[in-house]
Amino acid sequence: MSIAKIIDGKLFAQNLRTDIARRVAELKDKKNVTPGLAVILVGNDPASEVYVRNKNKQTIEAGMRSFEFNLPAETSEEELLKRIFELNNNPEVHGILVQLPLPAHINEDAVINAISPAKDVDGFTILNVGKLAIGGDAFIPCTPLGCLMLLRDSVGDLSGKHAIVIGRSNIVGKPMAALLLKESCTVTIAHSKTRDLPSILKTADIVVAAVGRPNMVKGEWLKQGAVVIDVGINRITQPDGKTKLVGDVDFASCEGIASAITPVPGGVGPMTIACLLENTLQAAKNIHG
Ligand code: GUN
Repeated sequence: MSIAKIIDGKLFAQNLRTDIARRVAELKDKKNVTPGLAVILVGNDPASEVYVRNKNKQTIEAGMRSFEFNLPAETSEEELLKRIFELNNNPEVHGILVQLPLPAHINEDAVINAISPAKDVDGFTILNVGKLAIGGDAFIPCTPLGCLMLLRDSVGDLSGKHAIVIGRSNIVGKPMAALLLKESCTVTIAHSKTRDLPSILKTADIVVAAVGRPNMVKGEWLKQGAVVIDVGINRITQPDGKTKLVGDVDFASCEGIASAITPVPGGVGPMTIACLLENTLQAAKNIHG
């Protein structure tokens, strides 16, 4: 049984952030522009708080400006929209991210689409989603972009490969499928209603799992030598009562069948923020040349 190459997303993301910091310094030098990212968190969901703290820290480490807004859970939609309009008009802010999910009383679609598409570094506005769908130049959602970078690094040319994306969320599954199609993959999107997932997986050269179900994908379902990208981050309680993070892929049974696989943690996770910084730098360059 051969053992898969472990795709080190932590190292890849670190190298990417170093390179972004170099390009940020260059932009400052040449154009006297410092890229700025505004992150808005509404409420105090603990997982979102951790993500937002890390985003701000890494933004500053890359030499960019970080504008942080921690708003109370009872913030009205109107107040949030007003804040976004201010940021749309603030020339020091090049990227705007509203952390999801939002509290139930706020219309997520209305908020996302209030963000200027030119500052939509999450790639969630209808304009950027549409541009990606027609294969145009768009801000690409950060997690799928991170997955694509790891895949290109591992596989090289993706053209003609059969890629299966498990999960159809707007944040990961759908944009991932659009990106793989743009790379000329043959793309299958599987989801909770898909029949006989194991036999579909048997024909896939590339598997991207983004369903949020711990250890769901089993090694015996995979084609020999498949490349596996695990987007899942699930906290499970072990028999001894301790908790640990696992992906959507059963790593233990897959590592002997796959040719390359991302671990959890340390695979896709660190790529998301690095790609957010990449998109923010791009947003600043789009405006300032
Ligand atoms: N919540 C979980 N993932 C994301 C993301 O990529 N962007 C935003 N804005 N919220 C999220």
